[in-house]
Amino acid sequence: MKKKWVLALLTGMMLTAAACSNDGGNTDGEKKESIQIGAAIYKFDDTFMTGVRNAMLESAKNEAKLDVVDSQNSQPTQNEKVDLFISKKYDALIINPVDRTAAGVIIDKAKDANMPVVFLNREPIAEDMEKWDKVYYVGAKAEDSGTISGQLISDYWKANPSADKNGDGKLQYVMLTGEPGHQDAELRTKYSVEAIVDAGIEVEELAKDTAMWDRVKGQEKMQAFLASNGDKIEAVLSNNDDMALGAIEALKASGYFKGDKYIPVVGVDATAPAIQALKDGTMLGTVLNDAKNQGAASVAIATALSKGETPTKENIGFEITDNKYVWIAYKKITNANIADAE
Ligand code: GAL
Ligand code: CA
Repeated sequence: MKKKWVLALLTGMMLTAAACSNDGGNTDGEKKESIQIGAAIYKFDDTFMTGVRNAMLESAKNEAKLDVVDSQNSQPTQNEKVDLFISKKYDALIINPVDRTAAGVIIDKAKDANMPVVFLNREPIAEDMEKWDKVYYVGAKAEDSGTISGQLISDYWKANPSADKNGDGKLQYVMLTGEPGHQDAELRTKYSVEAIVDAGIEVEELAKDTAMWDRVKGQEKMQAFLASNGDKIEAVLSNNDDMALGAIEALKASGYFKGDKYIPVVGVDATAPAIQALKDGTMLGTVLNDAKNQGAASVAIATALSKGETPTKENIGFEITDNKYVWIAYKKITNANIADAE
């Protein structure tokens, strides 16, 4: 018993000594050169998150040194990156989790190191968010993007009686979903259909499958939908633009978008290639997922926390809800307001 205590005491003393010596560089009262923020993105190979990443770098420019790393879609890799940031004694973290249920582990690590953490785009569960007051989340209300994409389809349906190709009064649709478990995938799927039904339109789901946010997979899944449903499909709903663009490729290969062979396709994000598809007339509409402001808000919160400030609307320029959340609004984008997304 006694031995254990002595050991614990000794370890404690050693740790304190280590901590002191690490602070050694600053003991002369010199101010730290600049704020250092470590950011880990779930994977670099994601169109929308690349936009967010560029926005983060842009807004960090004069504010902080931002070290952005690729977690390569692997949670163990991301955890290693977090350990590395902690060992480098950065001032704050920005984390776009690979697996949002892994946020708890990251929060524990960050809290131990007293390193504030801002989560981004993949929302940790509320219970994890409550673990520490220096935990924030920047994202968008996924429900809204679902509702908007459903409205795009129902508006089209109401304006174009010929959209009911088999004339049965029902809208036969297929759905491409994002990564299972991602709040954006689950909620966009649910709320888009709900919005169509709320508009008084009867629906029939012909097929639904995940294409993991990915353009090539979107094309493959759409090929499969076409093979089993052919001309029965009257609309394509997609949880994001990349998958919608893949679907458009498959539709083109089946003769769509030539002559009067048309089908409405909607996505979410308003990426540059999606805007091009709107201009080309192959995509009916999309929803602006505001990469610029999501990137800017994450950096602003991390910077404020690094300075030891409590983020407020005054110092970060964004409204904070429930002391922890910054919600960036979505916006409906069609050919009529493309400039809003560019
Ligand atoms: C969503 C976005 C998708 C994908 C995903 C990654 O918000 O719409 O395209 O980037 O985030 O978590
Ligand atoms: Ca029909």
